[in-house]
Amino acid sequence: MQQRGRFITLEGGEGVGKTTNVAWVCDWLSARGIEVVRTREPGGTPRAEAIRELLLDPTHDEPLDDDAELLLVFAARAQHLAQVIRPALARGAWVVCDRFTDATFAYQGGGRGLSAARIAALEEFVQGELRPDLTLLLDMPLAAARQRLAARGSRPDRFEREREAFFSRVREAYLARAEAAPQRIAVIDASGSIGEVQAQLGERLAALLEASA
Ligand SMILES: Nc1ncnc2c1ncn2[C@@H]1O[C@H](COP(=O)(O)OP(=O)(O)OP(=O)(O)O)[C@@H](O)[C@H]1O
Ligand SMILES: [Mg+2]
Repeated sequence: MQQRGRFITLEGGEGVGKTTNVAWVCDWLSARGIEVVRTREPGGTPRAEAIRELLLDPTHDEPLDDDAELLLVFAARAQHLAQVIRPALARGAWVVCDRFTDATFAYQGGGRGLSAARIAALEEFVQGELRPDLTLLLDMPLAAARQRLAARGSRPDRFEREREAFFSRVREAYLARAEAAPQRIAVIDASGSIGEVQAQLGERLAALLEASA
C-alpha cells in the first residue's frame, strides 16, 4: 500500500511571511522528488474559496457573528479536507497548507475570545484524527510584520482591520499552542532575512523527511 503523504502547515500572524515561504517549502520538497500539493485556508477549493470571500470581505454592512465566523471556517475546512487534503495524502502526496486549524485557535480563540474547548470539539468533528505532521509557526514582533505588510501595500481585509490588541492575543495564542505541542509545532524566528528564515525551515523539513524515510 502507498504510504500516506505528510501534512505540513505554515502559521503565524499577518505579514510574517507565510505565503512567501509556502512556495519555498514546496520547491524544497519537489526538488527532493516528492509530489507536493500547495494549498491554503480558508479556501483551497472553489466552494471553500467562496466561503473565504464571505469571511474576509470587509465591505458588508451586516456584522459577522463570531460563532457564524467559526462555523464558516470549519465548513470551508470540511470541504477542503474532502476535496483536496485527504485525497492527496491518501495517494502519497505531501500537502503544504498556508494556515490551518492552529489559525482558528489563534484568531477565533485568542483573537475573538471563543472557547478553545468549542474549537477543539469542531476540530474533532471535522478532522477526526487528522492533524498536521509538522507546523512551521513563523513568529515575529507585530510592528515589524506590519511594516512588511505596509510595504506589500494590499487593501486590508476584515481581519487586518482589527486592532493591535487583537493581534497580540493572536500571537500569544499561537505561542501557547506551540508550547503545548512542541513535537508538532516548530517556532521559527521570522524577523530575519528571507535566507535566515529559510535556513531554519530547511532544518525542520530535513528532520521530517528523515523521519519519514
Ligand atoms: N524574511 C523577510 N524579510 C523581509 N521581507 C519579507 C520576509 N518574508 C516575507 N517578506 C515580505 O513581507 C511581505 C509579507 O509576506 P507574505 O505575504 O509572505 O506574508 P503572509 O504571512 O503570507 O501575510 P498574510 O498574513 O497577509 O497572508 C511580502 O511583501 C514579502 O515579500
Ligand atoms: Mg499570505
